[in-house]
Amino acid sequence: MITALNSATFIGIEAVLVNVEVFITNGIPGVMIVGLPDISTKEAKDRVKAAIKNSGFEYPVKKITINLAPADLKKEGPLFDLPLALGILIAAGLLKCLLNLDDYIIAGELSLDGKIKKVNGIIALGILAKKLGKKLIISYEDISSVKFLEVEFFGFARLKDVCAFISGMAKIKHPAENTDNKKLFFSEILIAENNNNNRSADEEKYPDFSDIKGQVLAKRAILTAVSGHHNILMIGPPGSGKTMLAQSIAGIQPNLSLEESIETSNIYSFSNKKARMAGLILRRPFILVHHTVSVAGLIGGGASNPLPGDISLAHNGVLFIDEFSELSKKTLDSLRQPMEDKSINLSRSRFSIVLPCDFMLVAAMNPCPCGYYGDANHECKCSSSEIYRFYTKLSGPILDRFDIFIEVYPPYLDELTAGGKTANSAEIKELIERTRRVQLKRFQNAGIRFNARIKSSDIEKYFNISKSALELVKSAVKKLNISSRGYYRILKVSRTIADLDQKDGIDEDSVLEALNYKNTKSLRV
Ligand SMILES: Nc1ncnc2c1ncn2[C@@H]1O[C@H](COP(=O)(O)OP(=O)(O)O)[C@@H](O)[C@H]1O
Ligand SMILES: [Mg+2]
Ligand SMILES: [Zn+2]
Repeated sequence: MITALNSATFIGIEAVLVNVEVFITNGIPGVMIVGLPDISTKEAKDRVKAAIKNSGFEYPVKKITINLAPADLKKEGPLFDLPLALGILIAAGLLKCLLNLDDYIIAGELSLDGKIKKVNGIIALGILAKKLGKKLIISYEDISSVKFLEVEFFGFARLKDVCAFISGMAKIKHPAENTDNKKLFFSEILIAENNNNNRSADEEKYPDFSDIKGQVLAKRAILTAVSGHHNILMIGPPGSGKTMLAQSIAGIQPNLSLEESIETSNIYSFSNKKARMAGLILRRPFILVHHTVSVAGLIGGGASNPLPGDISLAHNGVLFIDEFSELSKKTLDSLRQPMEDKSINLSRSRFSIVLPCDFMLVAAMNPCPCGYYGDANHECKCSSSEIYRFYTKLSGPILDRFDIFIEVYPPYLDELTAGGKTANSAEIKELIERTRRVQLKRFQNAGIRFNARIKSSDIEKYFNISKSALELVKSAVKKLNISSRGYYRILKVSRTIADLDQKDGIDEDSVLEALNYKNTKSLRV
């Protein structure tokens, strides 16, 4: 007898259907799996056999042949355990099946005692099921992640329970009916979250925008950077408030769209990181990276099953690298390609996966090894060759990725002690939201979301710059010896500044402000 079931595997972070066929014949007892790599086959066989036995069934003493199709797809991971076990039981006539199995996609790892464990990539599975109009049979632990996708699912704790369900012995209520009367979908949850002005638990850890005293220029630069998704580098002596300024960004990022939220949630479902809420990422990530991070931790990796690194966990949000100049040369270099492509290719011997990593880079560093180069109140103890080495490590392609450079100075005492109210994070976020909507409208058919992502070749099409403003940019480029990359950077940042100020066109004021964010005195880029 032949039994066919649906399961899935992943190409990158997209799930694709895999057909599991089980044949049982009289012959020399044993299991042969066609279409799975050897190591996984061996492990799967052992787990499935033990799980079947420990769920109160006899394991068939027959020749079992299993075919996973299409053959040319790489199939990794233990998620085939559950469909394999069910296929064997049905094909052997040990389990009666009353369902039309073709309506279901089945995925779950089995433990030796028959429990069903959660799998990686559950959001992608949900998206596939929705696309194909199929239902999911998955681990109970995975319910929280698919609960809000518009897809029907059945979650189980043990192999025994799935068998009871399949054979009609157990009437299973839709799990969503058990908890709430109202069935909420992803889009509704996201809208509720977007309308919720309370700070999330994550954001509570970081300063509110109004906690930062003085720093009018730095705050304006941050507002501009976040509005247009521009990478920003802050340089200043120790204690000037760089870390504080950077951390305040956690609470002012614009809302996520449904599309962005699904993209980011999907990445988290491939990681070991717990998603913020029920498997869904509802606010833009703010990922703090320590300068001692390993290359694999930063860009992703792992020997057998590559895991997303910090750059992918920050997808659609912020990657904050404090003490940027302390990164090793190797780590710095590893950032270049993913920052260029907005995705990272993690190659392994048998296959490779591509993960998106479109993050906004926020970096902070001291101006020299001792920290006080250019500080009016402290003497810099570094030699000129030390300072030279300090910047050569950073220079070139990586510094070229920043749209906005600012120097941060310690606030004056009277600024720190001044009373009065300054805009808080919620108010700043509202401004940023307004500026984001202008950009979404501008780029609605362009496939991008922020000014920072515009291609140089499209700048004229979108940027609506006055003749005199363009002249101003050109003369600055000539006078200051700015590279062509620098030229486009100034235009992009000018566009964001004009959007912030609700101007249709870029005028001279916008350009003059953008020119402030060019190189600092110590960096020539
Ligand atoms: N503008 C400011 N307003 C209020 N507190 C500040 C300000 N700048 C610095 N501080 C205080 O000084 C401390 C050190 O600032 P920090 O951000 O760590 O500086 P840096 O990262 O530049 O070394 C902060 O924890 C904060 O309490
Ligand atoms: Mg700091
Ligand atoms: Zn110094």
